Amino acid sequence: MKEKILTELRKAGDGYVSGTALCSLLGISRQAVWKNIAALKENGYQVESVASKGYRLLSEPDKMYGPDILSRIDKDCLCKQVESFECIDSTNTKVKQLAEAGAKEGLLVVAEEQTGGKGRRGRVWKSEPGIGIWMSLLLRPTLPTEQISGLTLLAALAIAGAVEKLCKLPCQIKWPNDVVVAKKKICGILTEMSTEENYIHYVVVGMGINANTLSFPDEIKETATSLFLQTGKKVDRAELTAMITQRLCAYYERFEKEGDLTSFIDEYNEKLANKEREVRIYHGMVEKCSKEDIETGVAKGIDKTGALLVEVDGQTKRVVSGEVSV
Ligand code: BTN
Repeated sequence: MKEKILTELRKAGDGYVSGTALCSLLGISRQAVWKNIAALKENGYQVESVASKGYRLLSEPDKMYGPDILSRIDKDCLCKQVESFECIDSTNTKVKQLAEAGAKEGLLVVAEEQTGGKGRRGRVWKSEPGIGIWMSLLLRPTLPTEQISGLTLLAALAIAGAVEKLCKLPCQIKWPNDVVVAKKKICGILTEMSTEENYIHYVVVGMGINANTLSFPDEIKETATSLFLQTGKKVDRAELTAMITQRLCAYYERFEKEGDLTSFIDEYNEKLANKEREVRIYHGMVEKCSKEDIETGVAKGIDKTGALLVEVDGQTKRVVSGEVSV
């Protein structure tokens, strides 16, 4: 209900919405309106109430607040539930718990801070409060398990598209799933799934976006950046989260219907940072690779399964896992 009230308050702009109008628009009692407005106020939304006029939205906090994010997502989107937390271990872990308890696909979990943020290959994903977007989406695809890596590529495409639209920043994708701006990483994606034989119980697509980070530690400042550092402006995290979710849900539904990535290949390859460039393929963890575990070739683009096609000594190889350097 809070998301609906926020939508009405925003629609009114500088004007007021009367309590009576809210009651009849939303089909709730005056007391319920009052309670929901009080909850919004508690969460940092400044709402003015004037006896003869009604309610007016004066300001909104920079907050990853579930009802706010949901209010910015179209009604026909697969995402109908957004749960927000001040501080949790990992949004991926939370989605898994909720999925086990029967949550519907489209559930989105966001947090201001993660104390146990997970990166790929067991790495730690630092997730400080108030500056990033730490979000995880629950999906229950009816696709074969070998297609699931395609979801990670689609998440990268959704993030790149949303960032380009909202922040006016050209984005590229480092296969399979790092979105880069000016050759530096602005986001990471961790897709996890629960399966039984070839049956998928659920998939969690976890996305971490360096939104308003002011600085990075020395060891990663050459390879990581944030949207704020690239534009000099703070990004509206709730708006970007809603845009990414909406794009990803639409891509997902198309992918499920079509069964593979054929119709996404051109769009993805246009953003591929490594296209027609020499790339190194690391077979194993980059840090642990010896010379024999590294191959060099020229990246040609992805195929309909999401594998990277790399030309090595005149032969095209499909790379399905491992890491590639730009
Ligand atoms: C990577 O290593 O590049 C992937 C990082 C993924 C981080 C995100 S933040 C939200 C979600 N919750 C997690 O614990 N991890 C993912």
